[in-house]
Amino acid sequence: MRQRKIKDIEEKLEHFTQYMVEVPEEQKGKWKEFFGNDHPIYLEIGCGKGQFITEHARRNPDCNYIAIEGQDSVIWRALQKVERMELTNLCFIKKYIDDIRDFFDDGELEGLYLNFSDPWPKERHAKRRLTYHKKLRQYAQIVKADGHIEFKTDNDGLFEFTLEQIAEAEMTILEMSRDLHNSPYAEKNIPTEYEDKFSQKGKNINYVSMKA
Ligand SMILES: C[S@@+](CC[C@H](N)C(=O)[O-])C[C@H]1O[C@@H](n2cnc3c(N)ncnc32)[C@H](O)[C@@H]1O
Repeated sequence: MRQRKIKDIEEKLEHFTQYMVEVPEEQKGKWKEFFGNDHPIYLEIGCGKGQFITEHARRNPDCNYIAIEGQDSVIWRALQKVERMELTNLCFIKKYIDDIRDFFDDGELEGLYLNFSDPWPKERHAKRRLTYHKKLRQYAQIVKADGHIEFKTDNDGLFEFTLEQIAEAEMTILEMSRDLHNSPYAEKNIPTEYEDKFSQKGKNINYVSMKA
């Protein structure tokens, strides 16, 4: 979705440097030192305005969170939330990721979240989808063997594609629902901004949790 341009966005982002990791490649293999504790680390790719990851961080002070988002105007909204909520267990990477293994070592993460990822509807762009099988294998490498990767989407076509990619990547489905909000997983679910928007219109939300 096209976002409204925000005036002086770069200046506005400077206010939040304490929450941002400028050179994430330098932290590869050292994220525990970065946070200064041994707590498990979770990552969200494409966090948007941050409702999901900030609420996770608020509920789980004994876990650390990293959120990646490429769009300036959107990450700015997430940063405002972190400041308002006074969270110290969440940091941000302002980048469009390509190969996530540039930033994380094997097994460095406890879990990884992909929420309402861009669908890239044209078939010739399938490899750009964040649930393309080669990307799933990259995530599996940086997540611990007993960790999990979760994906939610309103887009039924992208969900079916993702299930095929999970099989192609030879990963195991742990939990799955085509109607998350009316499923046994609803209780633990933390909704995202997009999720709220689509479910308010009556759209079913698809959910899958997988492991390598
Ligand atoms: C459709 S929005 C969903 C936002 C949020 N997860 C939600 O559910 O409300 C997808 C977001 O992912 C970001 N994004 C897409 N590809 C990305 C990438 N490769 N690296 C980082 N962010 C990405 C986009 O900028 C956009 O803000």
